[in-house]
Amino acid sequence: MASSCSSFMITLALLVLVIGGANATLYTNFYSSSCPKLLDTVKCAVESAISKETRMGASLLRLFFHDCFVNGCDGSILLDDTSSFTGEKNARPNKNSARGFDVIDKIKSAVEEVCPGVVSCADILAIAARDSVHILGGPSWNVKLGRRDSRTASQSAANNGIPPPTSNVNQLISRFNSLGLSPKDLVALSGAHTIGQARCTTFRARIYNETNIDSSFAHIRQSTCPPNSGSGDNNLAPLDLATPTFFDNHYFKNLIQKKGLLHSDQQLFNGASTDSLVRTYNTNPGSFFADFSAAMIKMGDISPLTGSLGEIRNKCRRVN
Ligand code: HEM
Ligand SMILES: *[C@@H]1O[C@H](CO)[C@@H](O)[C@H](O)[C@H]1NC(C)=O
Repeated sequence: MASSCSSFMITLALLVLVIGGANATLYTNFYSSSCPKLLDTVKCAVESAISKETRMGASLLRLFFHDCFVNGCDGSILLDDTSSFTGEKNARPNKNSARGFDVIDKIKSAVEEVCPGVVSCADILAIAARDSVHILGGPSWNVKLGRRDSRTASQSAANNGIPPPTSNVNQLISRFNSLGLSPKDLVALSGAHTIGQARCTTFRARIYNETNIDSSFAHIRQSTCPPNSGSGDNNLAPLDLATPTFFDNHYFKNLIQKKGLLHSDQQLFNGASTDSLVRTYNTNPGSFFADFSAAMIKMGDISPLTGSLGEIRNKCRRVN
């Protein structure tokens, strides 16, 4: 692992081109002169975190989603609550659920060591999400960079902005649309649920009460998720029953077999216009990978702070 990382570094150093000029938009070589070792440093740290715990790849990917859907990709999800500051970590979609903050701290420290005060936490999230997907067998893409970190966060925006698993397909389409993401982006990005875990409390109603679910699948999930709320709420189940630690297109196969774990998952294949995309991604993993990559880049473009807005945080957990 170490040798592949250093050969990557050399390649990167050879490819560095200095691009000057002001920037209102994100671009891939934003740090190529100010922090040429950035991509290699992040990748090595993500590899190390995933080798300790495979699920961490999923958790890092989700952090980026939860950052971008709340006032843009600005690192706001990383801010800790304090006695005088309420952040997003205890918002409903994040509490007892969002994880990987310690890994982000580690990556940030490694990055600060090679180029202090230069790289935003928001950009680290974007790179870590890309690397996680690739390391777990998914596609890779060129990450656009140049985001700066917020000095604020909003618990209410997190409560309202991140769709709950009880959403129906029209609510999902509408929330994604409000951020400039199409129904195709919605379906492709939902393919992220090919990795990672969910808590019983997020899928209990589905496995006990819904009819568009494969009954043997429901029974299997019921065995570790008791019916009464309050008991076993935090018991985990894989979002993709078949290949839960591998980034592939099996999520879509599950939906076609009525084995989506979350209500919101199965909504994408329940007789609505999104059915045809689910079928496409089921038969064509290449088009899933291409559309997922494009959608991740689009999601990463949601209202970034650039130029002199925001700051480059010293520590991702608190404003400077
Ligand atoms: C379409 C609307 C979405 C809804 C309603 C939704 C909902 C959820 C829920 C309820 C969980 C389980 C959380 C828990 O029990 O602690 C989860 C996990 C996850 N979500 Fe989503 N999600 C959506 C879209 C996305 C997108 C766009 C991504 C990334 C591109 C994503 C990535 C993940 C990952 C990787 C996990 C597993 C995390 C882990 O194991 O730590 N989700 N999601
Ligand atoms: C299933 O639906 C019934 C009737 O609405 C409700 O009383 C019960 O709490 C639901 N069970 C779960 C696990 O959601």
